[in-house]
Amino acid sequence: MVVLITENIEEGSRTAARLVGQAVNNNPALRLGLAAGNTPTGLYRNLVDLHRSERLDFSRVEIFSLDEFLGLATNSANSYHTFYHQHLLNHVNIDPTHLHLLNGQTDKDIASYCSYYEQLIRDNGGIDLQILGIGRNGHLGFNEPGSSLNSRTRISLLSASTRRGMARLFTQAHVPEWAVTMGLGTILEARVLLLLAFGKQKAAAVAKAVEGPLCASIPASSIQLHPTSILVLDHEAASSLRNQEYYRHEASQLEALLPDWLRGEKSSSVADSPSTGNCPF
Ligand code: F6R
Repeated sequence: MVVLITENIEEGSRTAARLVGQAVNNNPALRLGLAAGNTPTGLYRNLVDLHRSERLDFSRVEIFSLDEFLGLATNSANSYHTFYHQHLLNHVNIDPTHLHLLNGQTDKDIASYCSYYEQLIRDNGGIDLQILGIGRNGHLGFNEPGSSLNSRTRISLLSASTRRGMARLFTQAHVPEWAVTMGLGTILEARVLLLLAFGKQKAAAVAKAVEGPLCASIPASSIQLHPTSILVLDHEAASSLRNQEYYRHEASQLEALLPDWLRGEKSSSVADSPSTGNCPF
């Protein structure tokens, strides 16, 4: 686990966008998993800027999504489908046939739909880079406290605290009670996890996830099982971490800790690219 402690949301968002941009540059057919919510909006804004100013090319990128509200039509103002389009997809050169966003209003029965989504991820060769936020209660995706560390894509009953946190987004309607989410086991199969957290209100959850015991009651602690997780925090979200000094030291050696295909310079060999099946870790 690499923990990058940045000054503020702006620097954190730029840092995360630089990592995603490097991954796309090194591997133009990157399979990218998106997350929604307040936290990654600055990351998406910076990716749009990189697309405009440095021609960051999304034409071969394949897009997956972490979760979605059940029962919301894709074009609903509050769906994550709409969120991804407003914040990123409408502003970069994504091929619409490369969009594999979870649908909260599938006409399949939901269990078959979830198995289909798992298969879709597998058929595409797995997710290379999964963007994540964290809930104040430690949720990851919509895996609420108590979710199995081995869980797969499935429906999830949202907790009262999660629904309260989202109420501001649903001015015209109630926050749905149910969502569909990648499971923790699904998330852990992504080759790299990029978890963002900003603000004091995330400090306790971040400390439990990073330095607390691995446990289902803090679903985000499951990232401790992942070989390559990168956390981008601002100093407020990092404020309850005990090992900050070490994280800052490690961050100074970041390039050496990243897999080849995430580094700043182009990978020397195409065979290093994860989409060729030759994963560097
Ligand atoms: C969003 C998601 C959630 C959020 C989390 C934090 O796709 O899966 O786990 O990442 O609720 O939300 P914000 O960023 O709004 O604080």
